[in-house]
Amino acid sequence: MPSLLLERARRIRERLDRLALCTEEPGRITRPYGSRSLGDAYALVNAWLAAAGLRTWADAIGNLRASTARGRPRRLLLGSHLDSVRDAGRFDGPLGVLIAVDLAEHHRASLSSPWPFDLEIAGFCDEEGLRFHSTYLGSRALAGVLDPVVLAETRDADGITLGEAVRRFVGDSAPPAALPRDGLLGYVEVHIEQGPVLEARGAPLGVVSGIAGQARVAWEFIGRAAHAGTTPMALRADALVAAARWTAELHDFARHRAAEGLVATVGRLEVTPGASNVVPGRTTGTLDLRAPLDRTRHEAAMEILALGEVHAANQGCEFFARVEQETPAVRCDLGLRGRLLTAVRAAGLPTAVELPSGAGHDAAALAAAGIPSAMLFVRCRGGVSHHPDEYCSEEDIAAALAAMDEFLLALAAESRPKNGAASKIPDLAGLRGTNS
Ligand code: GLV
Ligand code: MN
Ligand code: MN
Repeated sequence: MPSLLLERARRIRERLDRLALCTEEPGRITRPYGSRSLGDAYALVNAWLAAAGLRTWADAIGNLRASTARGRPRRLLLGSHLDSVRDAGRFDGPLGVLIAVDLAEHHRASLSSPWPFDLEIAGFCDEEGLRFHSTYLGSRALAGVLDPVVLAETRDADGITLGEAVRRFVGDSAPPAALPRDGLLGYVEVHIEQGPVLEARGAPLGVVSGIAGQARVAWEFIGRAAHAGTTPMALRADALVAAARWTAELHDFARHRAAEGLVATVGRLEVTPGASNVVPGRTTGTLDLRAPLDRTRHEAAMEILALGEVHAANQGCEFFARVEQETPAVRCDLGLRGRLLTAVRAAGLPTAVELPSGAGHDAAALAAAGIPSAMLFVRCRGGVSHHPDEYCSEEDIAAALAAMDEFLLALAAESRPKNGAASKIPDLAGLRGTNS
């Protein structure tokens, strides 16, 4: 691996370490939407972007945005997210943003000469949905598909609406988030794989074929709070027992349908009143449901929610569920995918692996909204992610930089005039696959 690429990768690692210090919880990375720590992360990335000569701003939803702003007729968008889950790893999201920053720095000289497109970069504000249980906030706004009702109706654990959180984070006068579509070549996101496939195949990089659809459901079991010492077992309506039995059963249900790629997770649970000597009267929680095919997910959702009714009835409880958000499964753009595969090979890397993504990504929200989108995955140690042990090696980051260099240079070369012929800027629309 050429030493310049390794040097660039090392600088990205150092920057990842600095971003990891931007957190709400000292000692572990937790960076939710609208937090002081997300603002701190923006300040760091903003300084690196500005030093690379890009114009930067925060948009009206709170994404960090940047552009080479040369007035080119075409634009290519790169990026990923800067928010995190609770007790996160340091690569999930920031790796893609910092690779984009590095590309802007590295190609700075050519970007300011006859480079045929402007480079835009997005550091998305809320891909994980940690605070509002609502994913892809920043990318949906950038794609122009965020329903304003969501701003009024979505609340965090303290009852603050999303709209109020946005106002507190970026104020009222930030420029609109929606990205004009004219001249947009597409969106490319580099991301840690978050799974074990590339490691098993011995490949540092993979090109994503499609991204699983997902549903996020809020649910509650309502029973009856009662004295833990005096209420006979047969006379209880224990909302936690109902939730626990249902959670175990939906887990088994998804395991039986593993061949269809179905995964189901209850990731949050709250018990009320939450005292050791009181029978739980109410439990609330979340369900995250994903599958590569929308039909699989829809059918599973119906069956799993019906099971909730059964377990509620068994315990003398009631069950309520509300689908808070659904994102369809998407296929990545065929034109961009092909270019990424060619770029991986041109960088001299072993077999270019194509693989689907079970994790959600901002690219899924943009693709669902019709923006040609593609992703390059970087090998992940042990498949571990959403965990502090998440890790990509500097060699693999350098491989991603090499492939992205090739990708950008090939895209630029295609646009240059040949033998005095008029400049032809590639129209990826002609090569685009379906995004559904
Ligand atoms: C995001 O990382 C998700 O897949 O939930
Ligand atoms: Mn994540
Ligand atoms: Mn991510």
